[in-house]
Amino acid sequence: MAELDALEQTILADIAAAADEAALESVRVSTLGKKGSVSALLATLGKMTPEQRKAMGPAINGLKDRVTAALAARRQALKDLALDQRLNTETVDVTLPLPDSPAEQGRIHPISQVIDELTAIFADMGFAIAEGPDIETDDYNFTKLNFPEGHAARDMHDTFFFPEKPDGSRMLLRTHTSPVQVRTMLSQKPPIRVICPGRTYRCDSDQTHTPMFHQVEGLVIDKGSHLGHLKWILAEFCKAFFEVDHVKMRFRPSFFPFTEPSLEVDIQCRRDKGEIRFGEGEDWLEILGCGMVHPNVLKNCGLDPEEYQGFAWGLGIDRIAMLKYGMPDLRAFFEADVRWLSYYGFRPLDFPTLAGGLSGDIYYPRKLQTGSKMTQTRSVMTSTKLAETVEKALRDAVGAAVDRVDVAEGYDHDGEPALFVTVRYRSGTDTVNQTKAQGMVRERLQEAGEERFPYMNHIYPDDPLADDGEDA
Ligand code: DAH
Repeated sequence: MAELDALEQTILADIAAAADEAALESVRVSTLGKKGSVSALLATLGKMTPEQRKAMGPAINGLKDRVTAALAARRQALKDLALDQRLNTETVDVTLPLPDSPAEQGRIHPISQVIDELTAIFADMGFAIAEGPDIETDDYNFTKLNFPEGHAARDMHDTFFFPEKPDGSRMLLRTHTSPVQVRTMLSQKPPIRVICPGRTYRCDSDQTHTPMFHQVEGLVIDKGSHLGHLKWILAEFCKAFFEVDHVKMRFRPSFFPFTEPSLEVDIQCRRDKGEIRFGEGEDWLEILGCGMVHPNVLKNCGLDPEEYQGFAWGLGIDRIAMLKYGMPDLRAFFEADVRWLSYYGFRPLDFPTLAGGLSGDIYYPRKLQTGSKMTQTRSVMTSTKLAETVEKALRDAVGAAVDRVDVAEGYDHDGEPALFVTVRYRSGTDTVNQTKAQGMVRERLQEAGEERFPYMNHIYPDDPLADDGEDA
């Protein structure tokens, strides 16, 4: 018995002394393993007389149980220890930027992006989305839209036809999204307020035309809808889409078989070194066709023109995408070149704005001309660190009552990576020397290894023009 006690003490001491999994395993093998000391003792039980076994059995089995328990406890303790050590040595800096994961490398195609943008704008105005098939009947694409058979207006659309069916009719690839107007009027009761984005096809190919392209149609049918409504909707859309506060529009008389009167709309713009700016300048740019829905179209779709009236418009999505994001050649949109897409595409979950983004590590190429110097730089600092550095520099530089600092990452007009800093001052703050403040911020950023140029926008509470109303 004393021997058993001594053996137990030794084994428990060995277990306690085992510094790692391997050491512990060798203690287990030397005790409970096939040739282990405890196993050997258990084997002796078989050769004992019943009386001896009665005395020794519980002692030896008890030893085995305690050793087993001690091994398990030590194993758990070693695991806990290893975890503690890892936690102490591996620090996780939660402010570090995320590495690009495979999902991050994917880009949203500009067409999808622009469809999302315009859908959001029209949805805000209460429009629903309507869809129709790309392969359309001649009746919906032309006849019901008041292009009678053989009418010269059909020549404006260079159509891809399918082979004639036995009944003499021919399906075609829709040449515009206007047949969705017909489908909507045939299937819904007014009031109708829909937009119909989708693919359209014409036998056409050059720098600004591709055989497949995209349009968005708008349709409003009600009892009292009129051109004034149309004008307001289009103006609101242009302001929201091109992100300008004012936009002058010009409505020119035109002709479409399915509208009367028909109009074409130009928006004010300025052409500047190959770049187009909206909401300023003396130039005009045609962006869409529209008009009041022709009474014949209403009749063709089962609506009484004496009761209902409405308006419609059609807009080229590819064209406005090119205009907004500065892409020179439409054909590249559909060549499926991932280099092009990584350059002109959008990151999922970003909300791009022309001002360079709202917040966070916004990175996307935009408004860039071919041959731009833009390179893909990554922020050397996290957004938080960046904002802190800028804010501290500002407080040191101007000693003024800085209220809030917002830093957004984006690109300047030359396509160079830049930082857009908005500084708000508390009431009663004297005007600061902005050049000095900008210089100081730049210096601090450079000390921290940040080479992007900070553009600063100073906002004083008592300056009504500078206030964007966000805090109101
Ligand atoms: N469907 C026309 C086209 O592709 C565009 C258009 C013009 C649509 C005027 C309309 C409209 O709804 O009212 O050329």
